[in-house]
Amino acid sequence: MAHPDRFLLAGVMGWPVMHSRSPAFHNYWFRKHGLSGTYVPLAIRPGQLAGALRGLHPLAFAGVNVTIPHKQEAMKIVDEVDALARSIGAISCVVVRPDGSLAGTNNDCYGFIQAVKQEHPGWRADAGPAVVIGAGGGSRAVCYGLAQEGAKEIRLVNRTLERAQEIAREFGGAIRALPWRDRHDAIEGAATVVNTTSQGMVGNDALDLRLDRLPKRALAADIVYIPLETPFLAEARKRGNPTMNGLGMLLNQGRPAWRAWFGIEPEVTAELRAMVEKTI
Ligand code: ATR
Repeated sequence: MAHPDRFLLAGVMGWPVMHSRSPAFHNYWFRKHGLSGTYVPLAIRPGQLAGALRGLHPLAFAGVNVTIPHKQEAMKIVDEVDALARSIGAISCVVVRPDGSLAGTNNDCYGFIQAVKQEHPGWRADAGPAVVIGAGGGSRAVCYGLAQEGAKEIRLVNRTLERAQEIAREFGGAIRALPWRDRHDAIEGAATVVNTTSQGMVGNDALDLRLDRLPKRALAADIVYIPLETPFLAEARKRGNPTMNGLGMLLNQGRPAWRAWFGIEPEVTAELRAMVEKTI
C-alpha cells in the first residue's frame, strides 16, 4: 500500500541506464496520484548487482525494475522468483518485501500483450501464425504472451538457431524454431510479426527482413521504442500494415510494478504517451 507519511522510492537498475524513459513516466504517475516519491535511474555496473539489490531494503526502496544487462543475473540474486519469470527466464521487476526479502517477477509479457490490446483492439493471437524475430529475453516474454493468448503457431526465427530451439524446447506447444535464412519466407501468411532483436534501434543497423510476403492486414510490431518508428515499422506502414512500436510495452509493464510496489494500478493514457514521446 502507499504510505502518505513516507517518501516513496523506486528505480531502474541498468548499465547503461541514462537513455531509459522509465523515470519520465513513473514520475508522471507520482505527480498524477499526488504522491511524494521518485523513480531514479540507477547506473549499476555488471558485477555490482547483488550489492545494489541488497541495498534496496535499508534504503527503503519499494523495488526496482531491472534492465540490460541484469535481467538474467537478477534471477540468481533475489530470494524468490515467481513461476512466470521462471518460465520466461528473466526478471524485469524486483519487489522488496517488508522483511527485506526480494521477490522477482516479469512484467514484459503483460506489457506487450496489454499494449497490443490497447492499440489494436481487434487483434487476436489466434487469427493466424505469429512470427517472432529474435530469441533473447524480450523474445521470451513476447512468445510466452502470444502462447498464453492462444496463438496456435509461433514461427521463431533467430540468427543463432540454437537459442530459438531452446525456447521451442522449453515452451513447447505452438513454437517452431526456424533458421535465420528462412526469415523472409517465414512471414508468408502471418497475422502478426514481432521484432524482438536490437536491429533498428538507434545506432544499430535496420532489421534485414523483406516484407513482400507479409499479408497487408498483418500487425507489424517492434519492441524497440528508440526510434519510435524503426525502418521495419516504417516499411510496414508504407505498404499498409497496421504497426505498433515498443513504447506501449514499456509503459504498460509499469502498471503491475506499481501495483506490487505501491498498491496502485496507474493508467497508460494518451497524455502520458505524448509526454514520453516528446522526449524521444
Ligand atoms: P534481450 O534480452 O534484450 O532480448 P539479447 O538476449 O541480447 O537481448 O537478444 C538480442 C537478440 O537480438 C537476439 O535474438 C540476437 O540474436 P542472437 O541470438 O543470434 O545473438 C539478436 N541480434 C542482435 N544483433 C543482431 C544482428 N546483427 N542480426 C540479427 N539478430 C541480431
